[in-house]
Amino acid sequence: MHKALDLSQKVVVITGAAGLLGRQHAKVLAEVGAKLILVDIDLEGLEQLKSDLPQSTWCELYQLDLREEKQIYDCVTSLTAKLTADDELVLINNAAIDAKVTSDDTLNLTRLENFDIRQWDLEIEVGLSAAMLWCKHLGKVMAERECGVIINIASDLGVIAPNQELYKKPQLADEQQNVKPVTYSVIKHGLIGLTKYIATYWPDKGVRCNALAPGGIENAQPDEFLSKVQKLIPMGRMAKVDEYQGAILFLASDMSVYMNGHVMVVDGGRSVW
Ligand SMILES: NC(=O)c1ccc[n+]([C@@H]2O[C@H](COP(=O)([O-])OP(=O)(O)OC[C@H]3O[C@@H](n4cnc5c(N)ncnc54)[C@H](O)[C@@H]3O)[C@@H](O)[C@H]2O)c1
Repeated sequence: MHKALDLSQKVVVITGAAGLLGRQHAKVLAEVGAKLILVDIDLEGLEQLKSDLPQSTWCELYQLDLREEKQIYDCVTSLTAKLTADDELVLINNAAIDAKVTSDDTLNLTRLENFDIRQWDLEIEVGLSAAMLWCKHLGKVMAERECGVIINIASDLGVIAPNQELYKKPQLADEQQNVKPVTYSVIKHGLIGLTKYIATYWPDKGVRCNALAPGGIENAQPDEFLSKVQKLIPMGRMAKVDEYQGAILFLASDMSVYMNGHVMVVDGGRSVW
């Protein structure tokens, strides 16, 4: 094995670790010996994930609400107190409120003309503000230790606009058609802005920051949606759930030691068409 793929010195914080992709990040990082700090509001999901990891995994669980800065600060204080001098911090800002396009009520709340500001605030707080707060508190520790890696999980919809045709249903009137919510585009583009900001903020302190822009994962979506989306992807299919593990390993490890401030787009080619 290449020595850069031995992550036994890395302490990796994963937010939203109990979710679909967070679990995959944890699994691949555990396989290469990383120490894991798994963060989520869903304690049961965290405990399930821990029990699925190899028994030898060094792993701590933190149940917290990412909308609360104090809880993020307390978590950073607690985890940094346990670091050894050799530990190298990695942060994966992965959590999000997954606003699925499912509503077909009379008043379709996914649509911009009906979009509720409280929903906007909630999604921005979890998907974007919390990422900034983790950079603020844990990034500061990284800068003090003169070493650190931050990975922001964006999306292909951080580099392209949603194609709203994908969500259309022939039986619905125009004003009832579902759309991908505006928050998703804003949060994912915002995370890429945050990535560039952080990449140029502490480069002299050994802190580098990149974004991963994954395409959609096939996960029991309706056939009608799948057949439309597949036509938009040069590889002709959505991603399998474990197909971002290689990208995470690259970005978290010293394999990517000279990569800083960029977006790694892994989308089957969707955004190049
Ligand atoms: N699944 C996909 O197809 C896909 C594609 C591209 C990008 N992404 C991005 O990847 C990341 C992970 O996606 P996923 O599909 O695993 O989502 P998911 O919904 O399965 O997981 C998100 C996790 O965040 C946690 N969370 C939500 N609110 C929280 C809060 N207030 N405090 C703490 N934790 C909270 C949830 O409990 C959940 O475990 C997201 O940023 C998502 O936008 C996903």
